[in-house]
Amino acid sequence: MRDAISSSMVQIDDEQPIVPRHVAFIMDGNGRWAQQRGLPRIAGHRAGVESLRKTIGHALKLKLEYLTLFSFSSENWSRPASEVDGIMGLLRRFVRSDLADLNAKNVRIKIIGSRDHLPDDILNYLIEAEKTTESNTGLTLIVAFNYGARDEICRAVQKIAHKIADGDLNPDEITEAILGGELDTASLPDPDLLIRTSGESRLSNFLLWQSAYTEFVFLDVLWPDFAESDFDEALQSFAKRDRRYGNVCATKSVV
Ligand code: FPP
Repeated sequence: MRDAISSSMVQIDDEQPIVPRHVAFIMDGNGRWAQQRGLPRIAGHRAGVESLRKTIGHALKLKLEYLTLFSFSSENWSRPASEVDGIMGLLRRFVRSDLADLNAKNVRIKIIGSRDHLPDDILNYLIEAEKTTESNTGLTLIVAFNYGARDEICRAVQKIAHKIADGDLNPDEITEAILGGELDTASLPDPDLLIRTSGESRLSNFLLWQSAYTEFVFLDVLWPDFAESDFDEALQSFAKRDRRYGNVCATKSVV
């Protein structure tokens, strides 16, 4: 069995808290933040991008290995066109204004989610972000864009079904590793900690397969107000968790 403590938590130095390897975020509450201020929803998303920048900065300071951000779900297309267009505009601007800086900071960007039916220029921005940073070795920033976990699992099953139809795989050979290897997150470790802001306590079709043993922290703060101190509070909560992976004790194997 996997040694939960040593594989998923990294002690940076005596001054720093113990941090998990991989933290995922559901950045929720932008709309409510704007509404509370009598502003259009896109103003909340704009403020959300600032929060996202601060969060990446904090992750770099903490020397986190993997940071996943749920930026746009496959269900978000059903929002009013003006809001969807506004979010696409924020993504374009973010890549134009922040990609060089992230690259200079040795950040490797990976995009997960379906690439079907994306506007051409958005797809090109995503590909550019991945290509520019592909050989970096610092923080891996995983951006979930046009992402839905059920869609991801269906696409993985389709790939497996094609292999079977082509005679390259026997159905009896399908294992968790085979299925996991066809997901968008193949080669990435599962998140150790998932933080959702805004007071909602649900996964909303995010990383359903990968979060089987993830610890959840739900915070009563809207994403644009999410501060470094909230991040630290979630890390402190994580550090106290007893991750047992179905066993009776996280730190030693029990026979
Ligand atoms: C959830 O808040 C947030 C989103 C659906 C989008 C988050 C997007 C960004 C922070 C900008 C993306 C840009 C880049 C650079 C990747 P909500 O609108 O559901 O809030 P509500 O629940 O209060 O309505």
